[in-house]
Amino acid sequence: MELRDTFNRKIDYIRVSVTDRCNLRCMYCVPASPPPCLKPSRILKTEKLLQFLRIARGHGLKKVRLTGGEPLLRKDITGLVRAIREIGVEDLSLTTNGQLLPLFAKRLKEAGLDRINISLDSMRPERYRRITGGGNLQNVYRAIEQAEGAGLTPVKINMIPIRGVNDDEVAEFAALSLKRRWHIRFIELMPVGREFDSSLFDGRRVTADEARAAIRTTGELIPIGRSGSSANYRLAGGAGTIGFISPMSDHFCDSCNRLRITAAGRIRPCLFSDYEADISAASGEGDMERLLLTSVLSKAKGSLLQKSIPCDAMSQVGG
Ligand code: 5AD
Ligand code: SF4
Repeated sequence: MELRDTFNRKIDYIRVSVTDRCNLRCMYCVPASPPPCLKPSRILKTEKLLQFLRIARGHGLKKVRLTGGEPLLRKDITGLVRAIREIGVEDLSLTTNGQLLPLFAKRLKEAGLDRINISLDSMRPERYRRITGGGNLQNVYRAIEQAEGAGLTPVKINMIPIRGVNDDEVAEFAALSLKRRWHIRFIELMPVGREFDSSLFDGRRVTADEARAAIRTTGELIPIGRSGSSANYRLAGGAGTIGFISPMSDHFCDSCNRLRITAAGRIRPCLFSDYEADISAASGEGDMERLLLTSVLSKAKGSLLQKSIPCDAMSQVGG
């Protein structure tokens, strides 16, 4: 039986934060005083995660995305990918900052990963280092190259334009899609944190409309339809595509098809609601299935229930 929530949305996509650890500290993700990382014993056990995903598969799960923190820091990420592949989902992807991807690309593909998203917020080495708290831009370029070589395609690039920080690069990022078969995705900055301070985020956000306007000064954006939460376009003659994800200015709650699992193993049906159900506490198949069904039925109607995403760091719930 497929999963339908109380607003008749079909739920067939699960995003899993497989670790809350990260080798970077991106300014929009990690708060000034970050919470301590979970003890390894508090991370949801692989067996429980697989059991949960198998049950969800029986209820029509089609798509899984692994996030973090940085998912490549998860012990035996390749084995986890292989095991999820064996469950039989149609689409298995992973979001990474790319720093370690050159070491993993081939193995991940062999284990059954379909494709990846790579976070890249600047093409200026010093700026990239500042935004990410120490990242190396060359590693990201190598990561993209290795991902393409391994067939983890289409490669998607996640860029969050931040006013006064990297918003002057929007058109340059869009232009990458001219020669490369990449999908460049502009994501609106979302406010994160329980102690909401709107000034930190609201003034910095570049809306999808603003990003489109910046790109149109250099070329025509041809609409090619939506996929999931992304409104997609192409530049005339471009090899790749451009997408805009606007969780803040035009939320796509009506077509939301997802659940999230936090690194600690809590099901979070909506990013903007603090409702969570604990998988790690479930014992046995029946218990876990009940948890899945109640979580789906508890899925909130829309975002911005809270003014910000209620969590201590984005790395706990996954981007
Ligand atoms: N706003 C929007 N997206 C975010 N991500 C992390 N923090 C935020 C935020 N505050 C997303 C980015 C990144 C992924 C890992 O998580 O898209 O690429
Ligand atoms: Fe790490 Fe990704 Fe958060 Fe950056 S956005 S700190 S790479 S989890």
